[in-house]
Amino acid sequence: MTPYRPPHIPSGEITPQGLYLSRRSVLGAAAGGLALASSPKVFAAPLAAQPSAYKVADKLTSKEDVTTYNNFYEFGTGKDDPARNAGSLNTRPWTIEVGGMVAKPQVIDIETIMKEIPMEERVYRMRCVEAWSMVIPWIGFPISAILDRVEPLGSAKYVAFETLVRPEEMQGQAGLFQALEWPYVEGLRLDEARHPLAILATGLYGETLPNQNGAPIRLVVPWKYGFKGIKSIVKITLTEQEPPSTWNKLQPSEYGFYANVNPEVDHPRWSQATERRIGEADGLFGGARIDTLPFNGYAEEVASLYDGMDLKKFF
Ligand code: MTE
Repeated sequence: MTPYRPPHIPSGEITPQGLYLSRRSVLGAAAGGLALASSPKVFAAPLAAQPSAYKVADKLTSKEDVTTYNNFYEFGTGKDDPARNAGSLNTRPWTIEVGGMVAKPQVIDIETIMKEIPMEERVYRMRCVEAWSMVIPWIGFPISAILDRVEPLGSAKYVAFETLVRPEEMQGQAGLFQALEWPYVEGLRLDEARHPLAILATGLYGETLPNQNGAPIRLVVPWKYGFKGIKSIVKITLTEQEPPSTWNKLQPSEYGFYANVNPEVDHPRWSQATERRIGEADGLFGGARIDTLPFNGYAEEVASLYDGMDLKKFF
């Protein structure tokens, strides 16, 4: 299949440079704690096993920056397009179809998730990176909570994610020029998806997720580049084969399936050794430049997932 090309987008802009990547998280530290509700909630069980050692002292990026500087090509390719255009997306009713190689395929209503996972119980404060970075207090829960519910079969090796296609409400899917092939798709290896730091986020800054950030539910994988963070998810499928991912299909030489933050592997068109912290003083482009850390600072927690792999090859 011929890869889609974004004919109207300058080369520097087709790249997801604005991605945020979460670097560390604070699980419930400041904002409400991890207190589990006493009722036997379906999504609550895996949370007990969450690590509690992730702390970040970094200053939070302002909510203004987090919600106005976005990549969400369904609403346009400009960084300010999503904030301007995403209001047209109707996020209720909303269901996620979870199936593929699972014992109990099912359709999960977002209301069930929201009801069973009160926002104040699920605060993750995360640092996010690519060519620039942000520090975001997400509200979310481990993907494992959903995986446990559907019971992946032994043969399942990957988890594929899909965004909705609804051109009536997503103007980037309706125009003459379409920047990407829809639906936006992403994937993780099952063991990556099972890591307690890989979350599905339903909010940020103590509030329901704004549409431009991927309402009502999006992926956040803090040790990976931000394009893995697929937004507005409607489908999750367990597979045996590595699933396709949107940016990899578009430019396989530039965007790999793994997309682990790795300062040693430069993108073909720019260095990935440093990042620009949005909203912080100075720097040539209005943000402080800081060194990017392997796995975005999460090496201790996640490096073992890749033991024996050549991460320059599997980038
Ligand atoms: N998900 C969908 N459905 N469509 C997109 O265009 N862009 C990705 C990712 N998820 C994208 C998406 C990219 S390139 C980035 S950098 C992050 O979302 C940006 O997330 P943010 O705007 O919340 O920071």
